[in-house]
Amino acid sequence: MTGKDQMSRRPLIAGNWKMFGRRADLSEIRALSAATTDAPSDLELAICPPVTLLAAAVEAAAGSRIGMGGQDCRAGGDGAFTGDVNAAMLVDAGAVWCIVGHSERRQGHGETDADVAAKAKAAMAAGLTPIICIGETLEERQAGQAAAVVQRQIAGSVPADAPSTVVVAYEPVWAIGTGLTPTLGEIADTHAAIRVALADGRQGAEGIRILYGGSVKPGNAAEIFRVNGVDGALVGGASLKAADFAAIIAAHPAAARR
Ligand code: PGA
Repeated sequence: MTGKDQMSRRPLIAGNWKMFGRRADLSEIRALSAATTDAPSDLELAICPPVTLLAAAVEAAAGSRIGMGGQDCRAGGDGAFTGDVNAAMLVDAGAVWCIVGHSERRQGHGETDADVAAKAKAAMAAGLTPIICIGETLEERQAGQAAAVVQRQIAGSVPADAPSTVVVAYEPVWAIGTGLTPTLGEIADTHAAIRVALADGRQGAEGIRILYGGSVKPGNAAEIFRVNGVDGALVGGASLKAADFAAIIAAHPAAARR
């Protein structure tokens, strides 16, 4: 089902550790580094650990295929903002990616599309590649609004001048951490709707990767990766253990082509 257009976008598989992980868990990063040394070069790999582990994770993954990222950033420069971390600080710790607009931040911290766009811009200005998350709630899907919601989120959260290097992660809110996933047809349809929205007024939008996220596991990764328009995955719970994450990576068709 992989389209020709899709072949030109380098697949990305990124892990989101959320608020999990202690220094002892750096062994999982080391194990993942070892397990992915000969992962296909056309696959890009990332882990976004909690900010407390970021610098140590960069060190643990030194020389590996895995780039590290932040899970959020404050838009703006240094200042008197107790508890906040900005994109320049993430770069200083060795990050190359930054998740912005995860639903756990939109819902738990009241982040709006405009906030997310500002964070994406700040991440880009600092030299990070933002992974901009969008996704509908269960109520919105049941009301037949999934496509409209993600299209509105794209318009509001992905800066109009975003380069084709930015990444979008489609994460249905109801699929995150629940073990539930949309049908493969629903994933294909929503990715297609996102692609249409990205093309609206953005130069080079066909190069923007759209990841699927929400209960991606070793057991369902292969079928999800084969869905037309899916350029990789953003993986939460199953990225915490190197064995699970390595199994997801191995399930990508790029790995099977070798
Ligand atoms: P999950 O989380 O894989 O645990 O469902 C995905 C995410 O929130 O990025």
